[in-house]
Amino acid sequence: MTDALALYVHWPFCKSKCPYCDFNSHVRAGVDAARWERALIAELDHYAAAAPGRHLVSVFFGGGTPSLMNPSTAAAVLERAQRHWPAASDLEVTLEANPTSVEAARLEEFRGAGVNRVSLGVQALDDQALRFLGRGHDAAEARAAVAMAARIFPRYSFDLIYARPGQGIAAWERELEAALALAGDHLSVYQLTIERGTAFFGAHARGEFTLPDDDLAGALYEATQARLAAAGFPAYEISNHARAGGECRHNLVYWRSGDWVGIGPGAHGRLTRGGARLATRQRRLPEAWLAAVEAGGHATDEETALGAAERRDELLLMGLRLGEGVSRARFRTVTGTEIEAAFDDTALADLVAGGFLVLDDAGLRATAAGLQRLNAVIARLLA
Ligand SMILES: C[S@@+](CC[C@H](N)C(=O)[O-])C[C@H]1O[C@@H](n2cnc3c(N)ncnc32)[C@H](O)[C@@H]1O
Ligand code: SF4
Repeated sequence: MTDALALYVHWPFCKSKCPYCDFNSHVRAGVDAARWERALIAELDHYAAAAPGRHLVSVFFGGGTPSLMNPSTAAAVLERAQRHWPAASDLEVTLEANPTSVEAARLEEFRGAGVNRVSLGVQALDDQALRFLGRGHDAAEARAAVAMAARIFPRYSFDLIYARPGQGIAAWERELEAALALAGDHLSVYQLTIERGTAFFGAHARGEFTLPDDDLAGALYEATQARLAAAGFPAYEISNHARAGGECRHNLVYWRSGDWVGIGPGAHGRLTRGGARLATRQRRLPEAWLAAVEAGGHATDEETALGAAERRDELLLMGLRLGEGVSRARFRTVTGTEIEAAFDDTALADLVAGGFLVLDDAGLRATAAGLQRLNAVIARLLA
């Protein structure tokens, strides 16, 4: 086992709610920055006591829109975290940011606070698509924010959403070309999904727009893989592409079933302690979270020790998303068994014979065909 630890900090506020988004993000008229900073530090202290003797490899400010946070709050959290846990010399500190001009103007201050990697929610490089997605920025503003990030940060990434209504392959390939011209060492490219409870869920159900059918969505996915791989950005995870060495170390901690502390509303965490793997979850609503932390020093809503089957399932659900898959050594450490012994022989053999999984000396991984229908592959394996 390793003593490496990552820290996730959730900032739950946004200027407006995007119609596709089901993240724990809320619009509030005023946020008491000083109270929020004190509460985040208090919850960090609580978890530091629960995870002694670790070293910090990554901090990720996610949201919501953490670029709306005061840079001094990010600095305070980083300073405190490094007091609790000695940091790796190459500590990765990521901030998610919206590419509006107001937020871009503050990026320099975040760099001063210790952030060394930024991930911008560009979403599209097309004004009409940005309007459809309900974004508060246009493509020119997004380009300017990416250029600013490139000047200020050693590493940066941006997010795009594809398989939008009316999007054909040629137009998407043109947009990918434009994205590649702006890219640093990392790109996240997500297929638009319609999530229950979002504005798009109702609009889609009412027939206000239609999405590309499965064939077109599959072709868009394949075009994305091919174009980005050819440009030196292969997928290391279903939706994440990087140049060699540009992979997001923080997300690799999740996908490799490593340990992380999660603070802030709705944050999840995983801690391995004395042979047990604890899953933690903080209260979700910002006001309830704040009240609980102010009353008791933390807002832990759930803390459960994962059983052997849950650990195996989670390792698979996360690990098979990665190009590298799940190594034999990691599988043994997390589950205490060999891969072959953990699954139904026929299911495993069928999935390998069908060209969806590869099982060899290195471990278990999904093929390109398997990655495209990963949920079905995992469901068959775990049935
Ligand atoms: C927390 S947000 C990123 C930071 C920032 N709030 C922003 O929007 O610029 C995470 C990313 O998830 C992606 N995302 C969220 N909901 C999605 C959906 N329904 N379909 C596809 N991608 C989605 C978007 O690309 C978004 O940038
Ligand atoms: S996509 Fe980003 S800005 Fe939009 S609501 Fe979600 S978290 Fe907030």
